[in-house]
Amino acid sequence: MTKKLLTRYNNTPGSHTLAFYQSVNGYQALEKALAMTPDAVIDEVKKSNLRGRGGAGFPTGMKWSFMPKAPVDAEGKPKPKFLVCNADEGEPGTFKDRLLMTQHPHQLVEGMIIAGHAIGATRGYIYIRGEFVHETRRVEAAIEEARAAGFLGAKVMGKEWSFDLCVYRGAGAYICGEETALLNSLEGKRGEPRLKPPFPAQVGAFGMPTCVNNVETFCSVPTIIAGGAEAFASLGTERSGGTRLFCVSGHIEKPGVYELPINITLPELIAHCGGVLGGRKLKAVIPGGASAPMLRADEIEVAMDFDSLAKAGTMAGSGGVIIIDETACIVEVAARLLKFYEHESCGQCSQCREGSHWLARMFDRIERGGGTEDDLNMIAEICSNMAGQTICAFADAVTGPALSTIRKFRSEFEEHVRLGRCPCKHEGHAYPHSQIHHASARL
Ligand SMILES: Cc1cc2nc3c(=O)[nH]c(=O)nc-3n(C[C@H](O)[C@H](O)[C@H](O)COP(=O)(O)O)c2cc1C
Repeated sequence: MTKKLLTRYNNTPGSHTLAFYQSVNGYQALEKALAMTPDAVIDEVKKSNLRGRGGAGFPTGMKWSFMPKAPVDAEGKPKPKFLVCNADEGEPGTFKDRLLMTQHPHQLVEGMIIAGHAIGATRGYIYIRGEFVHETRRVEAAIEEARAAGFLGAKVMGKEWSFDLCVYRGAGAYICGEETALLNSLEGKRGEPRLKPPFPAQVGAFGMPTCVNNVETFCSVPTIIAGGAEAFASLGTERSGGTRLFCVSGHIEKPGVYELPINITLPELIAHCGGVLGGRKLKAVIPGGASAPMLRADEIEVAMDFDSLAKAGTMAGSGGVIIIDETACIVEVAARLLKFYEHESCGQCSQCREGSHWLARMFDRIERGGGTEDDLNMIAEICSNMAGQTICAFADAVTGPALSTIRKFRSEFEEHVRLGRCPCKHEGHAYPHSQIHHASARL
């Protein structure tokens, strides 16, 4: 139940240093991987059933196998291949990558070197969210230590292969977590998503074949190589191996990052975190970051792995589990989320730019008591013009909270319209609505 692979040494003094990491067998997986062929490493990761922890749950070994073996340019000259770590971690409710970078940066560095060997890369970039200053320092220090120890740079561990890592800091835009917007930002361009195809494996960073993975995904790699794919696979489900870092927040007794079996059920997870805050009644759960459709309290009998949550009509996403209790106004929760998406839409596609703005205004209007029955019906229509209609999946993400809240809590929305005010706001309400939100609405 509580076997930990990535966070075994959480809160151990010095866990971020090379000396500590090597004292617990750090970089031995790299030595083992370098003695294997790149294809053998990819096969091992495939067998482990590791699926990307960034949100989409794409099989990691398969992604690595899409990288061309010996790409050449138009003149037949060899092209370099790049590896990119997505450390943007912008999804509301998600805060696991920052923990991994702060406490276990060498695990990330080792995972990236192994991945670099597997795909034949010469350079790796770690794209870190701009606000993560402390995390950046920790990762940079780990890179320095690894380079000084011969794990990075020319002739990695004495082999005929050179590989180095560098850190690039973002500027705090949520869209730069989308991998192609991230690549544009890395190149110094506006952080706008690119049309796919071509996929990054063909045309990635600086036009070169590139593989992008999440921090937690890379951190899982040393364990897979050291302990064997079967051991990793056996911890999860048939289609998804290993453990998962769940970020539990909201109305919960013990919020935090928990490394648990990927197929733990949602009620078990809530119980593991001490139950709903103050012993109150559960109202809803957002199980995979803000973009994941909400589950009602009567829908939570579900396992937390990618496939089970997809079957339940939502998604495992980035592992951000937001607990919402009976004191919350779902209309306010939805209005807050839509405001976030309105602010973060990059504006490149009109359906997303306009749609997220309209939705934010409508949810805000309904929440303040100025909504109409027509608004309620029009939300689904706007969403149908957004999902699947744009360059990237941001627009689909907006429709997650918009549609799930109105479909699952329609009576709450209708009550706001009928009464012309938020019925949840009365004296003695356990969680008064944000004064900032309402003050700005009155302006
Ligand atoms: C709007 C949007 C935001 C995203 N933000 C992140 C993020 O902050 N971190 C991340 O790892 N993946 C994020 N992703 C997913 C990435 O595009 C990509 O799928 C992921 O980095 C691949 O890594 P993985 O295969 O290891 O999951 C985002 C996707 C979208 C559409």
